[in-house]
Amino acid sequence: MSIRILSTSALVGPHIEDLGREFPELRIVPYRSAAWTEALPGVQALVVLLSEPLTETDLEPCANLKVIGTYSVGTNHLPRGYCEARGIHIVSTPGVLTNATADLALTLLLALTRRVREGEALLRSGQWKGWAPDLLLGSGLAGKTCGILGSGPIGRAFARRARAIGMKVVFWDREGTGEPVDLGAETARRLPLDDLLRSSNVLSLHCPLTDRTRGLLSRRKLALLPEGAFIINTARGGIVDEKAAIKLLHGGKIGGVGLDVYENEPDIDRQWLTAPRTVLLPHLGSATRETREEMSRLLCDGIRSVLKSSGT
Ligand code: DGY
Repeated sequence: MSIRILSTSALVGPHIEDLGREFPELRIVPYRSAAWTEALPGVQALVVLLSEPLTETDLEPCANLKVIGTYSVGTNHLPRGYCEARGIHIVSTPGVLTNATADLALTLLLALTRRVREGEALLRSGQWKGWAPDLLLGSGLAGKTCGILGSGPIGRAFARRARAIGMKVVFWDREGTGEPVDLGAETARRLPLDDLLRSSNVLSLHCPLTDRTRGLLSRRKLALLPEGAFIINTARGGIVDEKAAIKLLHGGKIGGVGLDVYENEPDIDRQWLTAPRTVLLPHLGSATRETREEMSRLLCDGIRSVLKSSGT
């Protein structure tokens, strides 16, 4: 029996097993293993993780491929143009990870500005001598400006959280300076990128990695931020010039950086590990059990629907 659905992982929750009961020709085989490569010519559906890029070369043997499912909202690791030209559907997991990712961005922001890492390290080291008026003073956020790159669901969910802690919110996105961004009860202005950067005490990234956003935050753009600004990135590493950000951190121009994503995951630039005023997480944006189960459900539903509608 040739493999019809080839997944690199078991995913969280029961949904992939359910899909396997419906399509018994489903197999879980490690990414780019010999067995995975061997199965490609027969597969109709591929399931990969965001850390498993697919190239045109990978897909060349897949003469029967109808759909690629990625266990992520981001699709920057897939050859989208190639798939579009060949009528291969891409199924991702938008919507269900919005709150989890926005929560994590807020976690990074609060941990960074309230010096949670240093406080915990002090306590655990046994060096804490007791309450002191100037012990580990952080930065308040109420009344300050939060610039958000990307006005999609995650950017807007983060904006609502930033508003809830008293911040002013402005957006930059590919719409330029069009209509204000609708946040439900309120709206927020869009600004040209340079204007947004000049006014952002906190900059939070929520845009996809595309040809337009790759390297968007160059050294020159980062230099526009006010003295002591904080940067939070739960989107994709390739959007920021990491070396420039590290340099500006050492020089004191940037107040702190909270990262969940990196240019080369998991082989991150080692300079991050010794850079001051950072909180570094291993790409946990969507990592709640509820979210990962919902992502599995959405992904499996999408694959099922493409396979059924293509009559195979
Ligand atoms: C995704 O799913 O693309 C996000 O990076 C999760 O954090």
